[in-house]
Order: sequence, then structure tokens, then C-alpha cells
Amino acid sequence: MKLSGKVAIVTGAASGIGRASAIAFARAGARVVVADWNDHSGEDTVAAIAAEGNEAFFVRLDVSKEADIQRMVEATVALWGGIDVLFNNAGVLLVKPLEEMTEEEWDRVMSINVKAAFFAIKHVLSHMRRRGGGAILNTGSVGSFVGQVGTPVYSASKGAIALLTKSLALDYGRDGIRVNCLCPGITDTPMLREHLGHGDEGETRIRSRLSRVPLGRILSPEDVARAALYLVSEDSAGITGILHVVDGGYLAAAEYDVRV
Ligand SMILES: NC(=O)c1ccc[n+]([C@@H]2O[C@H](COP(=O)([O-])OP(=O)(O)OC[C@H]3O[C@@H](n4cnc5c(N)ncnc54)[C@H](O)[C@@H]3O)[C@@H](O)[C@H]2O)c1
Repeated sequence: MKLSGKVAIVTGAASGIGRASAIAFARAGARVVVADWNDHSGEDTVAAIAAEGNEAFFVRLDVSKEADIQRMVEATVALWGGIDVLFNNAGVLLVKPLEEMTEEEWDRVMSINVKAAFFAIKHVLSHMRRRGGGAILNTGSVGSFVGQVGTPVYSASKGAIALLTKSLALDYGRDGIRVNCLCPGITDTPMLREHLGHGDEGETRIRSRLSRVPLGRILSPEDVARAALYLVSEDSAGITGILHVVDGGYLAAAEYDVRV
């Protein structure tokens, strides 16, 4: 199995892409730390993994707090002896024009989407070195490449995480530690549904977005999780410092009209 004997941490694993990835990593043989601040849903992810006969434990934390990250890393090493994989997936979206945004709102998004990765990477590095290497995966977005209307701080955070990834790939490559960034497009998760709204209005908005996606469908969290598994497993052993897009073709064109 692709992650046999490995220990993996997945942040934001109570929901969406993080949950699907935690389940995929466990199916691939990893013991998985399910890290999230939503304990009810986090325990559901652990239960789903355990129901398939695989191992996971839940850590309740706020990824933007260094002390919480440190506690998670220490608990993982105490239980399973080391860390091989870190998937910094937890994230938040804020749709708000810049001129209406408060400093607290700016800081909150940057802390969860960027500073949390700094903390987690900082605290896992020594453990990965001790294992002779490791795989770190950060989470960008199609918004790591192009601007998106009404989301200045989210876009800034996803741009920042992309360049943090490349920079760290240079610094830790000689330690056998690979650092990559997964950049999803329109993916069917609670974050997206919350953003676009529920019911008929939400469906209309989704259809309108999908009209410029060449594959013509919304991605499932599992579509993205399969790419995450590739990027943290030996299948991608020669790859570091990349932004890996999983977007149904969304970024392939500046403009796209479905031809009927
Ligand atoms: N869904 C999409 O279309 C899409 C597109 C591009 C990028 N992304 C990115 O993918 C990642 C996962 O998003 P998703 O769509 O699965 O969202 P989601 O809201 O379904 O899941 C995010 C998870 O992160 C957790 N989380 C948020 N802040 C936290 C904190 N401070 N501490 C601990 N846990 C925290 C939430 O509780 C939740 O379980 C995010 O980084 C997001 O920006 C999503």
C-alpha cells in the first residue's frame, strides 16, 4: 500500500477535502491524525476510518495557535513514534470587499490559511528529518494563480501559501522533505455550499460557475483527495515545489464557452 507504515497528519479533516483525504490516506495504510476544531465532525471522520479497520485519532485544535500545533505534534509522536506526512488543509473563505474588512478579519484568514502552515511545518520538520524525510502538502486554490471577485484576503492567502511552498521546497529538499501545494477548483464541500448558498439559488450559482469548467462537473472531495494521496506518497517521489492543480480544466483558458 502506498502509505504503509506511515504516520500522517491532516488538518481540517472533519469536513470536505480534509475528511476525504484522511480516509484515503488511511485506506493507503497510514495511521492518521484527524486535526480540526470541530470535534463532533472530527470524531465522525475517525469513526469512518475505524469502521474500515484502519487507525486514526482526533486532535481538537485551532491550527492558527502555535501551542495547539505543538500539542498535536507531541501527541502524535508520543503515540506513533514519528511523522511522515503533513497535509495543511484547514482553511476558511471570506467574501468581503477590502474597504469593508476589519483588521481582525484580515488576520483571521491569514492566520488560518497561511500562518497555521508555518507553525505546523516548523514543528514537524525535526521529526521528518529523524525519519530520513517526509512529505508536506499545503493547500492553495485556483485562487493561487488568478484573482477572484470579492475575496481579496482569501486570494492573498492562497497566493502566499503557493510561494511559501516553493521556498520551503528549496530549503528542505536535501533533507528528503518534499513540499508541494494542492490547488483545487470548484469542489463540493460545506465551504463551497456555504459560499454559494443552499437551495435553488445555490444550484443556479453552481451551474453558472460550471459553465466555464471544461469537464463540466463539480469536483468531489474524493477527486481532490486522490491527488493529495499521490502528492504525499512515493508515486510522486521526484516531485517537490509544485502547485498541483485539480480544477476540471478551469485554469486552462482565459475565457471558455461551452460549444453546443
Ligand atoms: N471547496 C472548494 O471549492 C475549494 C477550492 C479551492 C481550495 N479549497 C481549499 O481546500 C481546503 C479545504 O476546504 P473544504 O472546501 O474542504 O472546506 P470545509 O469547510 O468543508 O473544511 C474545512 C475544515 O477546516 C476546519 N478548520 C477551519 N479553520 C480551522 C482552524 N482554525 N482550526 C482547525 N480547523 C479548522 C473546519 O472545521 C473544516 O472541518 C481549504 O484550504 C480551502 O481553502 C477549497
